[in-house]
Amino acid sequence: MTAAERHRILIEPDREGLARRGVSLFAQSARAAIKSRGRFMVALSGGSTPGDMHRMLAREPHVSTLPWDRIHLFWVDERCVPVHDPASNYGRARRDFLDRIPVSSSRVHPMPGHLPPETGALQYRKVLSTCFELGKNEFPLFDLIFLGMGKDGHTASLFPGHPALQEKKEAVLAVRGGQPNVPRLTLTIPVLIRAAKIVFMIRGRNKAHTLKTVIRDREAHLPAQLIRPRMGSLIWLLDREAASRLEKGNRP
Ligand code: 6PG
Repeated sequence: MTAAERHRILIEPDREGLARRGVSLFAQSARAAIKSRGRFMVALSGGSTPGDMHRMLAREPHVSTLPWDRIHLFWVDERCVPVHDPASNYGRARRDFLDRIPVSSSRVHPMPGHLPPETGALQYRKVLSTCFELGKNEFPLFDLIFLGMGKDGHTASLFPGHPALQEKKEAVLAVRGGQPNVPRLTLTIPVLIRAAKIVFMIRGRNKAHTLKTVIRDREAHLPAQLIRPRMGSLIWLLDREAASRLEKGNRP
């Protein structure tokens, strides 16, 4: 497949449509992965955008029909704060859906934001190595990764100009930045680009300008532009507001 064929833009009219399409992509990828490999390895992002989708996963029909006993949940990044802190991505996911779906804690792999950052990064590398049965210098191959994008073009906790963007060896790094500006753990580019499917879920007019730059301006070098799937596909899942500055010609 050419790069253009591997990239798709899906525009939904509103938040409800965005969440619904996100759930549909989650379910499709889960069923395909489980059919071919017996399990589904998915990494979730934090921030506010995925919340509608997460809450929808915890409602009928999905809470009763998704094959939760074969689904393994990971995170793309985490703020190094206690789980009960409102900034915790895992804590937010617990409130949004984890506490209401029939998934065993043995298949929920939060990043250890409660540990000292470097210790947490080391521990999550070990979690990935065990869960994906990695050999030396191997990276985990996720079936699906959901990513968000900040107004500055960051994704995960990979911020513009940060040395973490150049990481080629480690799957997980401890960094600092973003809003809130706290220590964080993040998956690195080598992991993100190896996913079978990457879905950028982006909502809101405040992202429209950055999104147009990310998709059109090859010289901008924003973190979100570095997410070029090696073999998989990339879907820009947008609401109409986020897509408001995209014309036909801006499509990858
Ligand atoms: C984080 C996220 C981050 C997020 C974007 C968009 O922990 O901050 O993983 O990368 O996806 O900042 O956040 P919103 O969805 O809140 O706009």
